[in-house]
Order: sequence, then structure tokens, then C-alpha cells
Amino acid sequence: VGGLAGCADSPADQTARLLPSTGRLPAPYQVPLPIPAIKEPVARRNGVTRYEIIQRTADVEILPGTRTTIMGYDGSFPGPTIRARRGERVVVRHRNRLPVPTVVHLHGGNTAAEDDGYPVDLVLPVRDADRFEHGGGSMGGGHAPMAMNGDVSHGFRDYHYDHDQQAATLWYHDHRMDFTGAQVWRGLAGFHLINDDVEDGLGLPHDERDIPLMLTDRSFAEDGSLLYPAADPQLVDKPGVTEDYASGVLGDVILVNGAPWPELEVEAARYRFRILNASNARRYQLQLDPPPPGGTAFTQVGSDAGLLAAPVKHGDLTIAAAERYDTIVDFSGYPVGTRVELRNALGSGRTAQVMRFTVARQAADDSTVPAKLAEIEPLNIAGAVHREWRFARKRTHGMTMWAINGKFFDPQRMDADPRLGRTEVWRFATDLHHPVHVHLSPFQVLSRNGHPPGPTDAGWKDTLDLRPTEYADVAIRFENHRGHYLMHCHNLEHEDMGMMSAFKVV
Ligand code: C2O
Ligand code: CU
Repeated sequence: VGGLAGCADSPADQTARLLPSTGRLPAPYQVPLPIPAIKEPVARRNGVTRYEIIQRTADVEILPGTRTTIMGYDGSFPGPTIRARRGERVVVRHRNRLPVPTVVHLHGGNTAAEDDGYPVDLVLPVRDADRFEHGGGSMGGGHAPMAMNGDVSHGFRDYHYDHDQQAATLWYHDHRMDFTGAQVWRGLAGFHLINDDVEDGLGLPHDERDIPLMLTDRSFAEDGSLLYPAADPQLVDKPGVTEDYASGVLGDVILVNGAPWPELEVEAARYRFRILNASNARRYQLQLDPPPPGGTAFTQVGSDAGLLAAPVKHGDLTIAAAERYDTIVDFSGYPVGTRVELRNALGSGRTAQVMRFTVARQAADDSTVPAKLAEIEPLNIAGAVHREWRFARKRTHGMTMWAINGKFFDPQRMDADPRLGRTEVWRFATDLHHPVHVHLSPFQVLSRNGHPPGPTDAGWKDTLDLRPTEYADVAIRFENHRGHYLMHCHNLEHEDMGMMSAFKVV
């Protein structure tokens, strides 16, 4: 295993492998940055806001001049952004018009178990309901996940969200057992933002200066179609990825909000960028080139699950799969006309480039970044139950798989039974790079390798980037809901190849 930084594209690093595009790649900084559409509700009544999303395939232009068939929420990639207020009751009806079963998970949501997108709670495409309910293999051939006592829906499912949680940048994505990597790669991901009075009172950059940035890497065939080394390209029967890519798939085209190496015109003012790494396996070390004269590139105001207590400055920002960094970038120090590249120090060649900003003009700026952001009460760990979770590669039947505490995911097996409302201390330990994610409740990082938390560990996290042979202790309190939930590696190929564990809040 190599060093902590560098050579992200080489197989020796971070356990993932580059899948080269076979077509010609476009020049960078030609396409304007798209902003995902804000989803409009279909109804607001009895205190409930209702949305309807249609999951369908669509032919879209991602690489200029070619068409790509995606699987998209409302046929778009990223899907539409849902905006909600703290405490708002929302129902999202997802209709599945795709040729495959799906599962929707709101990542970072404090969600009831039946709405959390358990990987076998499939939403079947109507016309295929029979086929999927009675068939379908799974890893090892022991179980047929579609036929288990998962809570299967036909054609559509209503997902309920109470938003009993603070302002945060969440996202929703597919979570179908064994096929998450393949289905997210094809486009099933979108933003879901929560705001609240605390956030409104801060005066952070807003409206057109509050921009979500979804980073993904993808690879394309000559005809513009997405490449993915799925074991079963129809995504029907054989789960997972081909053996060569079981350690993670890296694309060679960097997309931001679904566009390759886009360009954004900005004013010489502060912007809020909610940066989400929605890539399957790629980590990024983000930098601004040139860095802002006399300033620090990124002022972080929020982490995965909400605002920080106080801003944290980062010259560069390492972001692992599924993490969110809510950041302020101040362009006011750059002379008008400056072109500022957002670069990835872990990439090489094209994957070292992400997007570009052009500082177009001077502008008034009424935003502030207060020194105090939100109240974060440290969790009390006195008397807490301790558990340890070891994330490691495991070969089985001549194949590379990934395990937690030596076991592969089994949706029927509960590996822990935390009590509702009690704080626990969980230790995550790794062999290689694993971004570890826990559903239902965010956590506070207590220590890394026995040392105080690092600068990227601040605030409420729901995904923790662990480097090779690291361990970290986190405090976590499971709030509001009982039932079965997940914790897993968010390298989606690792997840599909077994690195997921279920627990039951009792
Ligand atoms: Cu972002 Cu279990 O998922
Ligand atoms: Cu992993």
C-alpha cells in the first residue's frame, strides 16, 4: 500500500482501479456547470409536502456531441434537488419505470427503518414484478435477495421523511442489494437539502451563490454509453462487478453535476459550495489553482450532517466517497478575469482536473461567515457500550470480496443491537482505504489512531474517510427510530462485494 497521497489512478493505491474510456475525451472547461433543478411538490396538504419522482432511462448529452443512456431520477443525472425545512413532513413517491429493481436511500437522513431503503426493500418495475419476485440469484447462491422477506413494492413506493434534524446537505441514491455500484454509476443520485432557522440567521452566501457540486467520475465508450464492469450488464441476475474491478471502479472523466470538467462564471464574491463526492470509489484532494491571494482556499462551514460549531480553513480538502464538505470560497481577492482551476491532487492528467471558475466581474456581497455557526453538544460517552468493526479484504472461492469483522453482508443477520437514545462508542479499523458510513444517526469523531481528530473530522459526520491501517473511535447516539439499519463501506464496489453490516436499534 502506497502513501496517503498521490497515484489515485494506479491500482496500487486506494484499492480501486481505473477503467479507461474507449472514446475520445472532450477538452476540459467547455461545458457550463449545470445546476440540478429544484423539485416542485405535487401537493401540500395536511401539513405534508408530496413529491413524485419517476425513475427512468433517458438519453442525455454528457460528452458534447454524443448521447448517453442513463438511469435517472426524473430521467436526469444528477436527479432533481429536494429542498426541505427542518421538521417538514415530506413524502416522496418514487415510481420505478426502469428495467431493474431499485431501492432509494436518503443518505444522512434520520429516517424510519421502513423508509430508509433497506437493500432488499425493492421497488419492482411493474412489468417485471413476477420475474423478480420469484427469481434472482445472489452471491454464493444461498439466498435470492428479491425473494426474501424484504418489504417489496410494485411499481412505486412512498418514502416518508420527517426531517427531525438540523440543516444539512443530504443526498439520495440507489441502494439495491449487490447492484448499488452499477445503478449509481448509471445516474441514480441527487441532492436533498435541509435548511433551518439557525442556518438562515447566519448570513452565508445564498441563492445563486449557494451551489451544490456533485463530483463523480465515469468512463465512456466510443458511442457515448457509460462503461461499467458489471458482472451482469443487464443488472438482472448476477450481482457485483467483474473480478478485476472488485476493489473499486475509477472513471477517467470527472463530472461535476453530471457535466465533464465544467466551467462556472463567478463574481468576485463569496460562494457557498456544498461539495459532495458521489463517486463510486474515487477520493479527491481538492485545491484551487491559483490559491486565493492572501487567503485560504476553502472555509468549511458544514460537514456531512450539518453546520460546524465554527468555520475550519483548509488549503486543500480531501473528500472520500459520500462525504460532504459545505464550504465557502471567496473569489473577491482574485483580479477580475482570473481563471481558477479546481484541481484534484490525487489524480493525474485529466483526473487531476475537476472544474474551472472564471472571475467575471466585481459585485456587491452582503454575505458573512460568522465565527460561531451552530451549537454542537459533545456526546457524553460515560458508560457507553463499545463495539469494534474491522473492514478488510477477504478472499472466498477464489474471488476478492470485502468483509466487516470477517463477515459478508446478510440482510437477515443483525450484527449489533444498540439501544434507542443511548450513546455508543464505535471503533472502525481498516486494512486499506474505506469510507465508512452509518445510517440513521451522525457521529462525532473522538480520535484517530489514538490521536485527536483531524481537521476534516469536525462536526457531525455520517461518513468517515479511513486510510490504510487506520482506526478511529466515534461517538454515536441512535435517535428517534427503532429497527434495522446499515453501516457499510461507501466504496460502492466494496459495499456490493459484501462490506456491509446490519444492526437493529432496540
Ligand atoms: Cu450513501 Cu448506505 O449509503
Ligand atoms: Cu471499502
